[in-house]
Amino acid sequence: MPDEGPRPPHRSQARDEPRDGAAHRDADLSGVALVTGAGSGIGRALAEGLAARGMAVAGLARSGDRLRTAMDEIAAVTGSRTLAVTADVTDRAAVDAAVAEVAEQLGRVDLLVNSAGAIDGAEEPLWEADPDQWWDVVSSHVRGGFLLSRAVVPWMVLRNRGRIVNLASGMSVRARPQYSAYSVAKTGLMRLTEALEGALEGTDVHAFDVAPGVVDTPMTRSMAMWQGFEEWTPVERVVGMVAAIAAGELDAWGGRLLHVAHETPADLAARGPEGDARRLRLRPWGDGDPLG
Ligand SMILES: NC(=O)c1ccc[n+]([C@@H]2O[C@H](COP(=O)([O-])OP(=O)(O)OC[C@H]3O[C@@H](n4cnc5c(N)ncnc54)[C@H](OP(=O)(O)O)[C@@H]3O)[C@@H](O)[C@H]2O)c1
Repeated sequence: MPDEGPRPPHRSQARDEPRDGAAHRDADLSGVALVTGAGSGIGRALAEGLAARGMAVAGLARSGDRLRTAMDEIAAVTGSRTLAVTADVTDRAAVDAAVAEVAEQLGRVDLLVNSAGAIDGAEEPLWEADPDQWWDVVSSHVRGGFLLSRAVVPWMVLRNRGRIVNLASGMSVRARPQYSAYSVAKTGLMRLTEALEGALEGTDVHAFDVAPGVVDTPMTRSMAMWQGFEEWTPVERVVGMVAAIAAGELDAWGGRLLHVAHETPADLAARGPEGDARRLRLRPWGDGDPLG
């Protein structure tokens, strides 16, 4: 592996100087965050919230112009360094190149947030879904999470520090028949988190699933089931949960699902997990069930 030390950002792409009117920065975090899906919705809010807390933030998405605008705006508002890297998370070569660019411009990644992903094109039973779109949805979450982890985690292990956050959903633990691809994708991603955490045992690198509740974003606005819904989860709560993870406050919950709408980082830190709490498990039929 090449030299891992942080290097100065490339002036044409990395923004590292506070602009006029830069907001006060609540600098309780440091290091480098890589947030996928950072051009809109939760990913964009996370990129801004982490930058506001003092992290250098790289955003990754396919739509380059929108992403660059977002990263420029975040740099201007927070005064933190930002970088836009354009890639499709399902494209292995593009992901590897993007991660290498982040390392070169900002330094090695301390926090990876897998927020990129798509949703079923329509509410319909799976046999009516377009097979290519269906598989693209699964791939965006599962192959995307895998490829990003594969590119980033070895460096975290080498430095013995780092955290990975995968965006989860109620559909990680219970399928909705009209969103079969997304249900498969989010459950698969949760297994990926568990497998990652297990392989990282004995290190100071941890992986988490974070379910954000129902946040008002382009994704939820596109979903028929949320039409007319008004009880949106404030995205700041997602930012607060991920910031607590980045600060190492929730390491005891590694490999498990945390739900932004139902608990706060303080609740979780005080409680600690017991047994298989918040892991994907098959409920046994009774004491004698060999699969229990
Ligand atoms: N909003 C909610 O209430 C909610 C609830 C549960 C879970 N989640 C999860 O939270 C995450 C963020 O969702 P959101 O609501 O913020 O959705 P969003 O606004 O649609 O953002 C998703 C982003 O992912 C990017 N993306 C999609 N496919 C990609 C690919 N193949 N490669 C690279 N980037 C890709 C898109 O940007 P480009 O098109 O530019 O690539 C888009 O900006 C998702 O994983 C979602 O499943 C959201």
